[in-house]
Amino acid sequence: MGGLLMDAGRAARFLRQPLRGRRRMLLIFFVCPDEKGWERAQATMPPRLPDNLDKPEFSSVTIQRDLFYGYDTLMENVSDPSHIDFAHHKVTGRRDRAKPLPFKMESSGPWGFAGTNDDNPKISSKFVAPCYYINKVEIDTKLPIVGDQKWVIWICSFNVPMAPGKTRSIVCSTRNFFQLTVPGPSWWQVVPRWHEHWTSNKVYDGDMIVLQGQEKVFLSQSKNEDVNKQYTKLTFTPTQADRFVLAFRNWLSRHGNSQPQWSGTTDNQPLPSTVLSKREMLDRY
Ligand SMILES: [Fe+2]
Repeated sequence: MGGLLMDAGRAARFLRQPLRGRRRMLLIFFVCPDEKGWERAQATMPPRLPDNLDKPEFSSVTIQRDLFYGYDTLMENVSDPSHIDFAHHKVTGRRDRAKPLPFKMESSGPWGFAGTNDDNPKISSKFVAPCYYINKVEIDTKLPIVGDQKWVIWICSFNVPMAPGKTRSIVCSTRNFFQLTVPGPSWWQVVPRWHEHWTSNKVYDGDMIVLQGQEKVFLSQSKNEDVNKQYTKLTFTPTQADRFVLAFRNWLSRHGNSQPQWSGTTDNQPLPSTVLSKREMLDRY
């Protein structure tokens, strides 16, 4: 689960080792393709998953899927916890339980930003540039027999730009409650792993239809100008729940060169969502 830094030779030897013992390990390789990439890689710690994911009271699920909307749209989506109760009604949220999320920024810079709300549930968000986003949700609750409980859920997203209008989402989520409904190593965790992936894919499906539509609206209204700079004109963001979405667009404009740097010429290629049918976009296989 932790981060580890190695050169290509060590990485190849590591991968050739027998799978036993690292069966449940999430391996993500970070590459610095710059001129002084090796020096940069040695000077930078790769983004890490939170340490307490290894604790026995937490059950984790990792899922990945390729999505037909851009890196900036996916980053905006994970920066916006308030959409869950509306866009994922009866999947992972409930419209009647939605409430204001008055987020406050705690720190920001070229590295990313971090902030939280001061409420129950308490959501602490952190963006580690350029593609890692962590949401930690803490819920104080009281149960009939066991009394006061602190439920914690972590959602750690790696959002990898693949091409203009195409992004790979890798999400590791973990929680310390409803253990019976989470697939895991213990005999009493009877829910099969596919059930958790089925729910996660319903979340991906819901976002896919809404967000590829949002990209088309932005494209038609921004007239090839930088979307990030025009963001507050293109959208209506009146509440503090939108704080992190605006912070991400601000970071992308100020520190992120407004978009990922693509190799080769991509200017005249249509976005995948403009040529694929809905059925093709929702094909999770
Ligand atoms: Fe979503």
